[in-house]
Amino acid sequence: MRLLKLVPVALGIATWLVGSALAADPAKIDWAKVPASSLTLFYPGQSTYEWLRSPAHPGMAMVKSGKACVMCHSDPGVEKDKGAKLVVGGPLEPMPVKGKNGSVDLKVQAAYDDKNAYLHFQWKTQQPFPGTEHQYLRFDGKEWKVYGYPKLDKVVQEGKQPGIYEDRMSIMIDDGKVAGFSKQGCWLTCHDGERDSRNQFTKEEVAANALLTAIKKSDVRKYLPDTRTDPSDWKTGKSVEEIAKLKADGKFVDLIQWRAHRSNAVSMADDGYVLEWRLGDAGKDMFGGNADPKTHQPKFMWDAKKVGYKSITADQLRKGDHFLVREQNAVPFDPNAGWKEGDMIPDYIVSREDAKGSAADNNALANWKDGMWSVVLVRPLGLTNADDKTLKAGGVYNVGFAVHDDNITTRGHFVSFVKTLGLGAKADIEAVKLP
Ligand code: HEC
Repeated sequence: MRLLKLVPVALGIATWLVGSALAADPAKIDWAKVPASSLTLFYPGQSTYEWLRSPAHPGMAMVKSGKACVMCHSDPGVEKDKGAKLVVGGPLEPMPVKGKNGSVDLKVQAAYDDKNAYLHFQWKTQQPFPGTEHQYLRFDGKEWKVYGYPKLDKVVQEGKQPGIYEDRMSIMIDDGKVAGFSKQGCWLTCHDGERDSRNQFTKEEVAANALLTAIKKSDVRKYLPDTRTDPSDWKTGKSVEEIAKLKADGKFVDLIQWRAHRSNAVSMADDGYVLEWRLGDAGKDMFGGNADPKTHQPKFMWDAKKVGYKSITADQLRKGDHFLVREQNAVPFDPNAGWKEGDMIPDYIVSREDAKGSAADNNALANWKDGMWSVVLVRPLGLTNADDKTLKAGGVYNVGFAVHDDNITTRGHFVSFVKTLGLGAKADIEAVKLP
């Protein structure tokens, strides 16, 4: 019998592992006994809600009438073919990333006990290193500036910045309350106008927009069709009151993101949801910006007494995870510490202690070995927060999966057609009850 060993890559032993009598120790689950589903996730390019409903897409009429994507896209290997076609560039990919693969194979296993659901994901990274590093603040001799950008960004494609961005494993969850999600999945949330999408928003448009101004947002991100009077036009937001009613009625999708840098450093996954925007749950995330908005200097640096250095330089990249964790290895930034050009400090500070409320619900254990990520996401059952989907034994959920691989963000991910996840119930992916 093979016991899959998962070691937290965090700097300390995760304290949440101990102290809960009802829950399994996620590091000790015998995954060899749990059935596995093999999915192929593919590169979707800019196949937005609007593109799918345009004459450019042969499935236009059926998509408009609410039919399932897999009604037409179910041939074996369809995901691999689509990804290969889209990733190299064309009408749905104006900024192709050189050499990027078109799809990724994702192995999914699911289990649950009285306390939690456990989702085990495994996939190969394209690079021979894990994407545990994220953007840095770099001293240029005068100022601290962001160093490293995602690979869809022009500055990276033009060679002016290196591609540095964390890997991610995301899951979107609907409990049947979001119209159309069971048929068309994540594509309901992906629209023209969003960041890196077709006809990306302008700052002026956002500043002039009643809804985004009311919710204090400066860009356009995932949204559900129901939050707009015209679902195909992000500018036509409903009122804040109408949207609050949708939320109260559960007409949102949960969005959990395991982030190889910003949540993995403290053995967590973040907790968000999609309604009129891609929102974070109430409370506080496990990560925050490390740049002081006024001075642009870092707020924290490494504690040299603990880790041996207060900053790194570019030649240290990929030679460690380089997490900056407030309660473990960070001290307040000292502007007079003799900074030299090229010194780098993470652009984000991570903290389990500071994470609070509904935003701090999800834990995760992860391990990258032999080119493969292995992530166990731990999601409590029975959550009653206003911004969570409640998972429970016997429940069946519509889910979409996404993997961000090789220093990329936004639409540069690999995605799945919608699947069902059942906790001890018939579904595409069936979670087994742990003994
Ligand atoms: C009525 C059938 C039908 C439905 C339903 C449908 N499509 Fe398509 N779609 C097609 C056809 C036909 C093409 C052209 C390429 C092909 O033959 O696969 C296409 C092309 C695409 C492409 C471009 C890549 C390519 O292979 O050319 C994407 C992406 C896509 N569809 C996504 C979707 C998604 C997502 C949904 C569900 C929201 C969906 N489709 C629903 C028929 C359909």
